[in-house]
Amino acid sequence: MLIAQITDTHVGFEPQAGEDEFNVARLRSVLAHLCSQLMHPDMLILTGDLTDGGQPECYARIKRLVAQCPFPVHVIPGNHDNREEMLKAFSDCPTHDGFVQFAIETCEASDPLRVLCLDTFEPGRHGGAFCTSRAAWLAEQLSNHPDTPTIIFMHHPPLAAGIDWMDPCENEPWLKRFCETVRGHKQIISIQAGHLHRPVQAMVEGIPICVSPAVAPAVTLDLRPVDTHAADNRAIVAAEPPSYSLHLWRGGNLVSHFQPVGNWQTLARYEEHLEPMMQNMFSERI
Ligand SMILES: [Fe+2]
Repeated sequence: MLIAQITDTHVGFEPQAGEDEFNVARLRSVLAHLCSQLMHPDMLILTGDLTDGGQPECYARIKRLVAQCPFPVHVIPGNHDNREEMLKAFSDCPTHDGFVQFAIETCEASDPLRVLCLDTFEPGRHGGAFCTSRAAWLAEQLSNHPDTPTIIFMHHPPLAAGIDWMDPCENEPWLKRFCETVRGHKQIISIQAGHLHRPVQAMVEGIPICVSPAVAPAVTLDLRPVDTHAADNRAIVAAEPPSYSLHLWRGGNLVSHFQPVGNWQTLARYEEHLEPMMQNMFSERI
């Protein structure tokens, strides 16, 4: 099972630019790279901030762009989205109690996996949310399938990553509620998130968390505290390459890869003269 993740595309950041928009070009290049892979993913999940301002025409644009993907595409909202407009464009997206929460059952009997997509969006908030309704849904899903390995996808990572201006307060009620809901559910093998616009690994309640780098420009790595009354001219966003993630579930193990996309120079190819090297390396395998 191979799951592709694209996050934080922020289409509509330059609303007048239309198809020429910087973020649209970045999304196009990421989709082109992903679709050119000879090993296609089984699904693609867009983990929020699809648009920058919830504009209907931006969802329509994204829908047209992902229509080229020869695999299923799922979406969940981020804090820059508009849930209603997103659901109008992606009308086959399942919901529960008005929230974009749903389970994806994979059908490989020998290597079962459940994917739970969560909605952490609350209009007007930059940070996440996880109300009692959403928590009850997750609790039910987890109690009904205690033995099936499960990956959770959500926009907001349930943690403070140390990038001060992006972080939640560590005692926010939604974080507490989320942690209480997942606590002790050993079938959760990983939480995959976005929002931070940079690759981050961490652990919450004993569960590995993996934050995917973004399609839109990156949040810079700066772990100094922020004084909200003393702007210090630090760089906070940089045009690092657009990226996506590939999560490989095989033999009961999950491995996450991060792929930046650009016109990189190829420095080596597997040509005939490298066969002895490959044979030598493979000979170590037992
Ligand atoms: Fe974002």
